[in-house]
Amino acid sequence: MTVVVYASKNGSTKRYAKKMARELKLELYEYSEYKDEGDDIIYFGAVYNEKVLGLDGFLDKHSDKIKSFHLITVGLLDLNIRSNALEYEDMLKNIRFRYNLDFRHDHLKGAIDYSKLSFIDKLMIKYKISKTDNANRKLAFALTYNKWVDYSDANVLKMIVQNLI
Ligand SMILES: Cc1cc2nc3c(=O)[nH]c(=O)nc-3n(C[C@H](O)[C@H](O)[C@H](O)COP(=O)(O)O)c2cc1C
Repeated sequence: MTVVVYASKNGSTKRYAKKMARELKLELYEYSEYKDEGDDIIYFGAVYNEKVLGLDGFLDKHSDKIKSFHLITVGLLDLNIRSNALEYEDMLKNIRFRYNLDFRHDHLKGAIDYSKLSFIDKLMIKYKISKTDNANRKLAFALTYNKWVDYSDANVLKMIVQNLI
């Protein structure tokens, strides 16, 4: 069975996952609630600090029982920019190597409502703006400072869904 699993802190990833599950009539699980085995998994994971939310714990538990894995990351960064794509490639290489798992990857742009972030995440944004040496990344995070930005794109999700059918 194909199921949709999601890991989201502030809701944008959950919205995408819900939409796909509804359109394809698939079961939907929050990553910590998924218990079944032997499924084809579509995992929607928010990216925080160059890591996919919940993914290590999820794969520690389930990687040897998964039938197939499709990772859909949701983040602020635009992967059409080479330095961002390289950062993501490193992250994905690491996951493939650690879990000896081959998987398809797609990316969706997410959202940040600065006023709703935790204190620690607000600090992290500040840190990213001041410390990063990557100008594109600096700008991407600077544009979210004290603001609500939403780059969610239903058309990109639609294309991913169409490729699945
Ligand atoms: C503290 C913090 C760190 C983040 N780090 C990254 C990152 O490394 N790469 C990225 O593409 N997006 C990053 N983002 C953006 C989130 O991935 C984006 O806001 C996403 O939509 C969050 O998903 P959620 O609403 O489901 O939690 C970060 C956001 C915050 C607040």
